[in-house]
Parts: sequence; C-alpha cells; structure tokens
Amino acid sequence: VHIKTIPTLNAGELSFFEGTRDIPFEIKRIYFISKVPEGVRRGFHAHKKLKQLLFCPYGCIQLILENQRGREEIELSDPSVGVLIEEPTWREMLWMKKDSVLCVAASDFYTTEDYIRDYEEFQRFLKDKV
Ligand code: TYD
Repeated sequence: VHIKTIPTLNAGELSFFEGTRDIPFEIKRIYFISKVPEGVRRGFHAHKKLKQLLFCPYGCIQLILENQRGREEIELSDPSVGVLIEEPTWREMLWMKKDSVLCVAASDFYTTEDYIRDYEEFQRFLKDKV
C-alpha cells in the first residue's frame, strides 16, 4: 500500500498514516527492529488474528510472505511503501542492507497466544480454516 508522503523542499520527505483512516485497523502497538547486520533473517512465524502494516523507513529489507493466496516476495526500500498483512501469513524478513529498520504498526497488544512459530502447524492452521 502507498503511505502518504509529502516532499519537503531540499529537506527530505515526511510520511504518515492514521489508524482507521489510512489503514483498516486501530493501532494498538508500534514496534521496530533495528541494529540488524546484513544477511540476517528474522521472522519465521505467523499470527492468527493480528493485523499489521510493515514498512521500512530506512534501508532495504526483503519480505517473504506466504498465506492462503500463495507466496510473495517483496523488497521494502521505499519509505512511502507499506505492506498490509490482514490474514494469517507466514513471514520471513531478510536484511539486505545493514542497519535497515523494519517498523510495524499492529492492531493488538503483544501476546504469545497469537503466534504460530512452527511452519507445519501454520500449514495445518490454514487447512483447518477452509
Ligand atoms: P519476534 O516477534 O520473535 O521477532 P521477529 O520479528 O524476528 O520474529 O520477537 C522477538 C522477541 O521480542 C520475542 O521474545 C518476543 C518479544 N516481543 C515483545 O515482547 N513485544 C513485541 O511487541 C514483539 C513484537 C516482540
């Protein structure tokens, strides 16, 4: 999805989004992942209910996403681009550049109950949903 971005003359640009206006949920939590060396992979989990907007304000991160609709690879390197996750989706994130920052706006508080950390279990979860 496009994140509204305003160029500010010779002074960079400013991006923003508002919960329920620009993204389809209320934001209850923001988290970000930083100080990751190049080449590192994170993620390896899915969420049962959580909705999220992922964006990369600095650097370059490859997302590998898999859900009911298939598998997708997305390179996040533009601060005006966000990826909306609204259904259970297995995700892996690869840091293509050192110090890239991954930011996430999430629809709910942190709870371990919402995580699926086992890929086989995620496959079963998808099958049971249909
Ligand atoms: P995790 O979701 O496993 O990170 P990754 O994005 O690499 O999959 O989270 C790493 C650790 O941080 C884990 O122990 C849970 C903790 N954590 C919180 O306590 N609160 C949060 O909001 C998040 C996202 C993670």
